[in-house]
Amino acid sequence: MFDVDEERLVTEVLRSGWVAQGPQVAAFERAVAMYTGAGFAVAVNSGTAALHAALLAAGIGPGDTVLVPAFTWVATANVVEMVAATTAFVDIDPRTFTVSSAALETALARVQTNGNTAFMPVSLFGRPIDYAPLKGLIEKYALIVIEDAACALGAFCGGRHAGREALAACLSFHPRKIITTGEGGMVITDSPSIAASVTSLRNHGTAPTVGTVPAPSALTDHDRVGYNYRLTDLQGAIGVAQMKKIDWILGERREAAERYHKLLSFQDRIVPPSVTAGGEHAWQAYVVWYRGREVVSDNDVDLTALPGLHRERNALMARLDRDGIMTRPGTQAVSALKYFRLKYSLAPADYPVAMAAEQLTIALPLYPGITMEDQERVVEALLAHDWSPV
Ligand SMILES: Cc1ncc(COP(=O)(O)O)c(C=O)c1O
Repeated sequence: MFDVDEERLVTEVLRSGWVAQGPQVAAFERAVAMYTGAGFAVAVNSGTAALHAALLAAGIGPGDTVLVPAFTWVATANVVEMVAATTAFVDIDPRTFTVSSAALETALARVQTNGNTAFMPVSLFGRPIDYAPLKGLIEKYALIVIEDAACALGAFCGGRHAGREALAACLSFHPRKIITTGEGGMVITDSPSIAASVTSLRNHGTAPTVGTVPAPSALTDHDRVGYNYRLTDLQGAIGVAQMKKIDWILGERREAAERYHKLLSFQDRIVPPSVTAGGEHAWQAYVVWYRGREVVSDNDVDLTALPGLHRERNALMARLDRDGIMTRPGTQAVSALKYFRLKYSLAPADYPVAMAAEQLTIALPLYPGITMEDQERVVEALLAHDWSPV
């Protein structure tokens, strides 16, 4: 994950004596802005902080509703609660792992608010969102779009980087993401006012300084309530080094995904992830369905078949673990988590595809440097499972 580049840049920061947010964070921001084509890139200390600050900067708060996919990491929905808006879940498409326009329309029809309605699509597992089918609804309902692109650095759709269709998009640099700074996040946007607000929010709500060099006696003014969401320059330096090898990282991930596609193309019990037409997947994770086809078809889910297949999937994952192959479920059906279930009186059947995805998906090992032999061993172990009759 790290090599002499990170060591050298971090050592330089240590020797400089300036370890808080400084020139390396600024250099990291410039590198991400350049790579994504965004007008502004503002670093913060986690993807969650990026989402929280972006929602606040977009003016989302009490009385507003935010539509969130029911299948995502809990942070996507937590930040809606953090700004005291209402979370409205949208079920997902089993092929893309994100919302379809049909599911979005159904969810929008249920929204009751006199306030703003925001939409937080998630380019999950590094699969870029295709906005073309969503555009009509975004315009009709004047949706404020903040993309959760935590997993999608390096994903492109129609030649545009993930998140570039949104008002703002939020990246994460957690170790499970495309590049890492240990912890870290960034808001990318073309909006000067969103960028200025996030810049203020990450630093205790500091008001912009007027003039050039402040006098030694000058204290900062604060015109809003803010946070300490700053990234350190040690992390900024790691980010700069990581951005230098992003093409290599993505190349390794794409090659590994291609190899899994081929290795899995001779069977139909493990359903490989679909690829986007006209898009470049970043392959933050390679997530397959355990016999998904028998349970989920065109957004119709046979929930009665789910518990049995869920037990089988878990048994398979436990066996892989005994064989030294580490796998994880894709992610969570956030709509089924206790806090959200109780607060919004939700039942599993309300978001059946999300429920099935939580219970039947498996993220296979995928990282830069994984070899063909490693991947063959994973697929052999999958196929050696004691498959129940279809
Ligand atoms: C989809 C999604 N959203 C948000 C986050 C939050 O990012 P972080 O862990 O950097 O706060 C993550 C990663 O953990 C994620 O996978």
